[in-house]
Amino acid sequence: MKDLPLYEQIADQMHEQIRNGVYRSGDKLPSVRSHGKTLNVSISTMLTAYGLLEDRGLVEVKPKSGYFVKAHRTQTLPEPKFVTETVSPTQVTSLQRVMEVLKASADPGNISFGAAVPAADFPALTHLKSLFAQKARQGTFMGVGYDSVHGNQPLRREVAKKAVEGGVYIAPEEVVLTSGCQGGIALCLRTLTQPGDIIAIESPCYYGMLQLVEALQLKAIEIPSDASTGMSVEALKLALEQWPIKAIVCIPNYNNPVGALMPDDHKQALLELANYYDLPVIEDDIYGDLGYQSRRPRTVKSYDTQGRVLLCSSVSKTLDPQLGIGWILPGRYLQQLQYERFINSVFSLRLQQQAVAEMLAHGGYDRHLRTASEAYKQRRDHLLDLVARHFPKGTRISTPLGGFVTWIQLPLHIDATRLYLSALAKGIVIAPGELFSTNPSKFRHSFRVSYAEPWTPEREKAIATLAHLVAQEQ
Ligand SMILES: Cc1ncc(COP(=O)(O)O)c(C=O)c1O
Repeated sequence: MKDLPLYEQIADQMHEQIRNGVYRSGDKLPSVRSHGKTLNVSISTMLTAYGLLEDRGLVEVKPKSGYFVKAHRTQTLPEPKFVTETVSPTQVTSLQRVMEVLKASADPGNISFGAAVPAADFPALTHLKSLFAQKARQGTFMGVGYDSVHGNQPLRREVAKKAVEGGVYIAPEEVVLTSGCQGGIALCLRTLTQPGDIIAIESPCYYGMLQLVEALQLKAIEIPSDASTGMSVEALKLALEQWPIKAIVCIPNYNNPVGALMPDDHKQALLELANYYDLPVIEDDIYGDLGYQSRRPRTVKSYDTQGRVLLCSSVSKTLDPQLGIGWILPGRYLQQLQYERFINSVFSLRLQQQAVAEMLAHGGYDRHLRTASEAYKQRRDHLLDLVARHFPKGTRISTPLGGFVTWIQLPLHIDATRLYLSALAKGIVIAPGELFSTNPSKFRHSFRVSYAEPWTPEREKAIATLAHLVAQEQ
């Protein structure tokens, strides 16, 4: 950086600001004169710096108005296409690769697009840390003894308040706090199923769900998903006609691993099927607060008049998975779930619960959601551009409207597991398609990318390297 001419250093810094969403499409850059004054450089240096941004296609000049950030997305690729037939229920076997990907993703020496972890560059997270420090100083979380078996009441109240945005009206007493969303789904499945039971899941499916299916000795029937509308309700209907399914598990809002958003009429149709077959629906809404549109999507639970939907969520994607704070809105299964929670663990994470309750109540959580969602949208757009620019013809990619994961489908003959291994050898982590099905070859030519992290030249280069590795496989 030091060896670069001054105008190029300034252009790079501004480029970074645009990449990170500080300046968004349509925003005006600071004027040449005022920015030059701030940086103590001449107007001509500033003009050359902004000219360079213009050459890079990032900004445009509007006569007499100044420099404006251009709309980022310049190229588009088609959506992934999934096979539509449903196969028989299958037992999940070893998921060793999941552990390997998670370990490699956590290695700071690697550039990771692997694990679905939120970015850590938002001011709200600093505020959360200060809330922790404050609570720790106050010592209110100390004191020997167990909390209420149902968990921290202020947090339950905040969860009940937030639920209204997804169209759900419940009392705080109807909230069961859990250890993360995964812990919540596990409790639901333990309560509702026996080993050997069949449950309906999405395909491709979040690997944590497959791990649970394996651990609880269930059988999964994989219901095909659409890249933009999620689980196929038509295919679910056929599966329900054919198999004695005990529960439906779905991620209707910005699902993992594709980022699909189920339309409201599909949500209603799914619920009608559940009503008809008298089945519980476990709705994972962990990404629901991270939409890029102004209206938060409704939940399946918001249409539920019979209390059969158990909505599970957490702050793992909105704040930090290490907090371990999740919840279930279990509807008619409340008492069973409370009992299951009690026999699984009696303690609660008092400090975390207090800090998160405070964050939700007065700590700017909603503002943080707006900032994070806007940043993720920008980061998605940048990824879509990079993939369109570097990857070979025949590549498909989903365009999530929320969350921070997307699905890349390579031309059929390319093996994403081989790509994963050769990328890993170069310190780049992706989540290969084999992790997302009971059948490891089903998504062999696809992989999931997590784009939460801010873009840096290294991360951009890593995408080009991935594309280069794909080209070598051609
Ligand atoms: C769809 C989905 N559900 C649940 C989880 C797990 O959430 P938690 O970390 O809160 O247990 C994840 C994490 O990747 C996820 O993507």
